[in-house]
Amino acid sequence: MIHDISLKNFRNFERLDACFSRKINVFAGANGQGKTNLLEAIYFLGLLRSFRTSSLADLGRIGTEGFFLSATLDTGKGWKHLLEIDYSDKRRLRIDAAPVHKASHFICQFKLVAFTPGDIMLVTQNASVRRRFINMLLSSADPIYLAALNSYSDALKMRNTLLRETFDLGSMLAFEKILAENGALITNKRREILTELTPEMLRIFRSIRNDVKSFALKYAPFNGSEDAGSYLAKLSDTRARDVSKGYTTIGPHTDDFDFVLNGRSLRHFGSNGFCRLASLCLKMASVSVIAQKGDEGSKVITLVDDVTGDLDSAATDAFFETIDKSEQVFFTFTEVPGNGFFDCAEIFHIADGHIATH
Ligand SMILES: Nc1ncnc2c1ncn2[C@@H]1O[C@H](COP(=O)(O)OP(=O)(O)OP(=O)(O)O)[C@@H](O)[C@H]1O
Ligand SMILES: [Mg+2]
Repeated sequence: MIHDISLKNFRNFERLDACFSRKINVFAGANGQGKTNLLEAIYFLGLLRSFRTSSLADLGRIGTEGFFLSATLDTGKGWKHLLEIDYSDKRRLRIDAAPVHKASHFICQFKLVAFTPGDIMLVTQNASVRRRFINMLLSSADPIYLAALNSYSDALKMRNTLLRETFDLGSMLAFEKILAENGALITNKRREILTELTPEMLRIFRSIRNDVKSFALKYAPFNGSEDAGSYLAKLSDTRARDVSKGYTTIGPHTDDFDFVLNGRSLRHFGSNGFCRLASLCLKMASVSVIAQKGDEGSKVITLVDDVTGDLDSAATDAFFETIDKSEQVFFTFTEVPGNGFFDCAEIFHIADGHIATH
């Protein structure tokens, strides 16, 4: 669990230090005060990314240069870790005061699932949103996946440069080998987690709606086979086409998966309400499924931004039942619900970039 956090010049916080409850924490306050910014800081400490922008320049407080974030993690096994991120002229990462040079060694310190108002886009928008979701989910839980993803992305950039600029067969073959080996692993792990998420999603969906007969997350990898050998052969087959296009046309960077409810694709046939519910069920199933992944001793930290307001009572019950399985939860609310779930919560009042405990 996250024991405490410290922010400097992050979003609208000039300076903030807070010590958290082991289980339920609530950031409460009026609109525009910094509640989501705080969740974003926690997310950034876990994944070195934001859930709402890809532009790091947005994260530093306007008018200042760079930002600083730190958190103390309590492993529950008798020791603590201090994570520090210092973004100024360049990024400096430290764990327990020792510099960490690779992002992949910093990420995976804790497992993370974030519920956000934009989650419906997982169902309705294009494939890149779903790839990003699955990459973030697996990255926070599985260091092997993260390492493969980084190697794959680096090799992809290099192959694309070769395709566009000076073609050199020796280098091309070397990058294709890296793509095939890591791509096969990525495809395998994606298939595995989607296979694990499906029954859990179906169970949750049925607990909310009794008209759900069947549900599946249908994975459509570019390559039916997951072995590196057939992958390598496909890369070789498509090389001439890739040269003419100037980029790599096959690989897990083109993957997608579909939400199929009662035999129909939700993206194409689903009502807004069902799409919203499916995205919520996916995140709920993620909490249970990644708890079993990687280091099972490290449990899931869940972030919930403005999510429960428009849910009916069955969905709300399912939601709180699932959330209760996480080790520690951080909510944002303008008004804290009068729900028994929050009786023991630590409430933090957020006003204009400042925090006060109730
Ligand atoms: N880089 C930045 N520097 C300074 N202020 C920022 C920066 N980025 C965002 N803000 C400010 O942060 C505030 C928004 O914070 P946040 O999104 O956390 O609000 P919130 O409390 O979650 O509100 P809501 O209830 O509407 O979701 C806005 O006032 C915005 O101007
Ligand atoms: Mg907000």
